[in-house]
Amino acid sequence: MSLLLPVILGSVRSDRQGIRAARFIMRHFESRGCEAPLVDPLELQLPLLDRMYKEYPKGEAPDVLERLADLFRRADGFVIVSAEYNHSIPPALTNTLDHFLEEYFWRPSAIVCYSAGQFGGVRAAMQLRALLCELGMPSISSLLPIPKIGTALDEEGAPQQSWLDQAAKRFVDEFVWYAQALRRQRAEGTPY
Ligand SMILES: Cc1cc2nc3c(=O)[nH]c(=O)nc-3n(C[C@H](O)[C@H](O)[C@H](O)COP(=O)(O)O)c2cc1C
Repeated sequence: MSLLLPVILGSVRSDRQGIRAARFIMRHFESRGCEAPLVDPLELQLPLLDRMYKEYPKGEAPDVLERLADLFRRADGFVIVSAEYNHSIPPALTNTLDHFLEEYFWRPSAIVCYSAGQFGGVRAAMQLRALLCELGMPSISSLLPIPKIGTALDEEGAPQQSWLDQAAKRFVDEFVWYAQALRRQRAEGTPY
């Protein structure tokens, strides 16, 4: 069975560049035989956090949260696509992630970060690592930082620089390894 690796995009701006990075990495995972559905808070019209999914009585959560909870429970890992806003994590990403908790447990995550500038969003990624650990989906060692996103990838996410495919392949190899390893271990049970 192929790995299910939702790609969570953390920008809802009308001029957002992050959709380029999401499309780029989705294609890489798909070409490795993985399912990599996009979780797009803009398309989903995800509300600002009121109640977490688990705070709703069973069967009473908004439909969008029920659908995401179902996807996340079936997932083998999470790919997080993050910009850097003021050297930190974009609020739309935190808002998306904060709706859930236990649904993430015992799965790895991997961070694709990007920015308009030359640092590729790595300052946000460092803070994101701590958040993802707290959510129970620790991130793998490698990041995939994409500097100057507007010229590195076109609107469809096609790379405009040759290093990108090489870097993405290595990143995907590493993440797939962790996702497969934890899937096997989850099948044997989890500590709680
Ligand atoms: C509120 C805000 C804060 C930003 N802060 C940073 C920053 O700290 N470092 C950086 O490299 N770029 C920063 N930028 C520029 C972003 O890298 C660039 O706009 C990028 O395209 C944002 O991702 P998005 O288009 O997917 O929302 C900022 C952009 C916004 C909108």
